[in-house]
Amino acid sequence: MVKVVICGAAGGIGQPLSLLLKQSELITHLALYDVVNAPGVAADLSHINTRSTVSGHGKEEMDEALKDAHTVVIPAGVPRKPGMSRDDLFKINAGIVRDLAMGVAKNCPSAHVLVISNPVNSTVPIVCEVLKQHGVFNPKKVFGISTLDVVRSSRFVYEFNKSLDPQKTRVTVIGGHSGVTIVPVLSQVPGQAFTKDQIDALTHRIQYGGDEVVKAKDGAGSATLSMAYAGARFTNTILQATVAGKTGLVESTYVNLAADPESTAAFKAQTHLEYFAQDVEFGRDGASKIHSLPTLSAYEQGLLDAAVPELKANINKGTAFITDSKI
Ligand code: NAD
Ligand code: LMR
Repeated sequence: MVKVVICGAAGGIGQPLSLLLKQSELITHLALYDVVNAPGVAADLSHINTRSTVSGHGKEEMDEALKDAHTVVIPAGVPRKPGMSRDDLFKINAGIVRDLAMGVAKNCPSAHVLVISNPVNSTVPIVCEVLKQHGVFNPKKVFGISTLDVVRSSRFVYEFNKSLDPQKTRVTVIGGHSGVTIVPVLSQVPGQAFTKDQIDALTHRIQYGGDEVVKAKDGAGSATLSMAYAGARFTNTILQATVAGKTGLVESTYVNLAADPESTAAFKAQTHLEYFAQDVEFGRDGASKIHSLPTLSAYEQGLLDAAVPELKANINKGTAFITDSKI
């Protein structure tokens, strides 16, 4: 049985993400958990003629939803409104993610945990610390989904050069998932050179793409549909590798560098970062290899230098939220 749980399944991301995952042949049971409306969303999705069973679980049914899950995807929590940073969401979302991670430790300690809830730079360390405290942490199985940055990059690059195929134009995005911590490596886009002005404009648009959507939605939330698309792409990659045994699959994702201590030792010694978004290769057990950093231009090295202190602060905030409180 391959059970995939969506926590926050009735929300703006949760619903379209659940719809996309209902189409996966690799999932046998799709469990939808939310503090509101999950049974209704589940009843609706359950009429779609694919093989998976769909179940809906309300507020008091987290344990039942998570029991024996293979993969848990977490888009639970509040989204930004105009004028807010992702870090402003920490106050509410940190506790939500902590409680869900405790549910994972209790009910499905070997599940792959895919975190969407912001601020991702801090919520991923929260999940890892909770799992550590319960003695069930496997760094190869906890991921911050930063795929939307990659999806946006492909699209925005395509807007500069319409002869490219946006589905095939891969842009490596490293660092984290907020503002200056998002570092697109445009110098390595195959078959495309940019002027300095284009690099400035593209980099800014990729780093602040989330703000573009928050502003356009004008108080009604942040990216949901493009995020569901990106979340489904990442979840499907994990399932293709871990369930179907497909090899050579690579996505950029925000991980604890202990997932591949050998490949990341030099980078860790240099930056003192414990978490970083980088191209990761997947195998049957989750992350199998973290790729080494691509060659960076001087401009990109400058972006990375600016990202490191902010990332460090975000990571420390998430880690301390758990280590400074007894859970
Ligand atoms: P939303 O408010 O539409 O949906 C969130 C859902 O979470 C709601 O249905 C709510 O009932 C549910 N929820 C709240 N507390 C819960 C709990 N304890 N257990 C289970 N469910 C709970 O918000 P959204 O637009 O779907 O965004 C969700 C999160 O995803 C936000 O934090 C947002 O910032 C983040 N996000 C991340 C990315 C990314 O690239 N990683 C992209 C877009 C949005
Ligand atoms: C995004 O990048 O769209 C998300 O992180 C949501 C946000 O707050 O911008």
